[in-house]
Amino acid sequence: MQVIHTIDALRAALAGQPERAFVPTMGNLHEGHLSLIRQAKAAVAGQGGLVVASIFVNRLQFAPHEDFDTYPRTLARDAELLEAAGCDIVFAPDEKTLYPEPQGYKVHPPAELADILEGQFRPGFFIGVCTVVAKLFNIVQPSVAVFGKKDYQQLMVIRRMVQQMALPIRIEAGETSRSDQGLALSSRNGYLSAMEKEQALLLSCTLKNLAARWQAGERDLPALEADAMQALRDAGWQPDYITLRRRHDLGAAVEGEPLVALAAAKLGKTRLIDNIEC
Ligand code: PAJ
Repeated sequence: MQVIHTIDALRAALAGQPERAFVPTMGNLHEGHLSLIRQAKAAVAGQGGLVVASIFVNRLQFAPHEDFDTYPRTLARDAELLEAAGCDIVFAPDEKTLYPEPQGYKVHPPAELADILEGQFRPGFFIGVCTVVAKLFNIVQPSVAVFGKKDYQQLMVIRRMVQQMALPIRIEAGETSRSDQGLALSSRNGYLSAMEKEQALLLSCTLKNLAARWQAGERDLPALEADAMQALRDAGWQPDYITLRRRHDLGAAVEGEPLVALAAAKLGKTRLIDNIEC
């Protein structure tokens, strides 16, 4: 496996390669990321394709009060994990390489998809995500890219960008990896104390409960959502939202259509997100 830091060196390494599957990350990798690497490998197996991962903590998607400075940077360990998972090339640019001058050209995703949920509580977040992902797509030029359902809205925003911009990239969704007890794996779980890790299980439990009540035929959605918000508050969380939506555009839940329950909430100083399809 090669670890490459510059755009020119990456282009040289990729020249003449027929196909590549791409997994963009911000590093501090865990089993969830590695499952995407294995999925990427399977997507190009047989065609002699390569798996490329990127590691880049993208300042553009962090608000000034967020954890950009403290986000864990663990490149040496990440590289070992990636190699063991079957990755062929790691692209790990520094900030000057990806943003040699202030990034004035940005990708603005549509408000109805990107200014709701995460976008409401993290204004500009998806502009930062789309801009860096579009740039990484241009550098890596993959035929397939794998994104986790853990960041469900991100997956939908990227899918729509690829479709509207006619990018020749197939987006594959990876299932969410969880601890044995159900906590969605996340780099930010590292911020949790041992006791908070136990308490954090409530997020997936509350989502499951919301989904189960809908599936059992309860249809007063505002009441279901209010109950779920209250359950989190009662346990000391500060929820941003917990809601049931239509899967493909995250619009209002509609009977008979595939749905997803999504939540974001702060436990102590740590903001966690999770979702389950239902
Ligand atoms: P990051 O949070 O590092 O996540 C990288 C990829 O791993 C994303 O597609 C995310 O959905 C996926 N992932 C995270 N936790 C997962 C889990 N428990 N199970 C399965 N997949 C999981 O998402 C980003 O980075 C950034 O926004 C990025 C797309 C790299 C742009 O900067």
